[in-house]
Amino acid sequence: MSYQVAIDGPAGAGKSTIARQVAKNKGFIYVDTGAMYRAMALHMIRSNVDTKDAEAIAKASETADISIQYVDGEQIVLLNGENVNGLIRTPQVSAMASVSSANPQVRARLLHLQQKLADENDVIMDGRDIGTCVLPHADVKVYLTASARVRAQRRYKELVAKGESCDLDQIEAEIKERDHRDMTREHAPLKQAEDAQLLDSSDMTIEQVVDAICNLIHKD
Ligand code: DC
Repeated sequence: MSYQVAIDGPAGAGKSTIARQVAKNKGFIYVDTGAMYRAMALHMIRSNVDTKDAEAIAKASETADISIQYVDGEQIVLLNGENVNGLIRTPQVSAMASVSSANPQVRARLLHLQQKLADENDVIMDGRDIGTCVLPHADVKVYLTASARVRAQRRYKELVAKGESCDLDQIEAEIKERDHRDMTREHAPLKQAEDAQLLDSSDMTIEQVVDAICNLIHKD
C-alpha cells in the first residue's frame, strides 16, 4: 500500500515549498496538482477560450493531454507532450486556472491522473481538494494556511527579488479574490477536511512547518 499525505490550503500558504521539502526528507514523490490545473489553463489560453463560456472550457479540456514526469525528483508537467513547466507561473495563467479549475469536466480529467500517481507511489500531494476529494483516505491530511496579508507579503518579496514592480495592497486584494473563488465554487471547493490538521504558518518558519508535517508521518 502506498503512503499518502494530502496538503490543502489557499494560494501562497507555502504548500509547494513545504511539500517539496517533506518529500525529499521522506523519499516520497511530490505531486503539485496546481501545476496540472495551470497546464490545463495554458491550453485554454492557447485555444482562445472565453472564460465565461463553461461549455467551451469543457470542450477544450478534451484536447488537453496532461501527464507528469519526474527528473531529479522535480515534477515536469507535459501538455500534449510539451514540457510547460516554464510557462505556467504567469499572472495570466493564474487567472485562467482559477476560472477553468472550477469546471467539473476539467476536474474529472485530472482526478484520475492524480489518484493513479497516489496509488502507485508514496506521495505528498498538494492542492485544494486533496483531503476532501482526491485522497479521502490519505494517511495524513494537513490544511495549511496563513493570513492573507502574510501571503501577500511573501508573494511581494518574491516579485521584488525578481526585479518586478508590484503593489502589496493589490497583491493582497488578488489573493482574497482567488480565495473567494476557490472556496465558494460549486465543485470541489477549498475547505478543510474534517480529519485534517490545521497548520497556520503565518508566524512559522519553513523549517518549523516542514518539521511539524514530518512528525505526523509514521511510515513503517
Ligand atoms: O496552487 P496553484 O496556485 O498552483 O493552483 C492553481 C489553480 O488551480 C488555483 O486557482 C486553484 C486550482 N487548483 C484546484 O482547483 N485544485 C487543486 N487540487 C489544485 C489547484
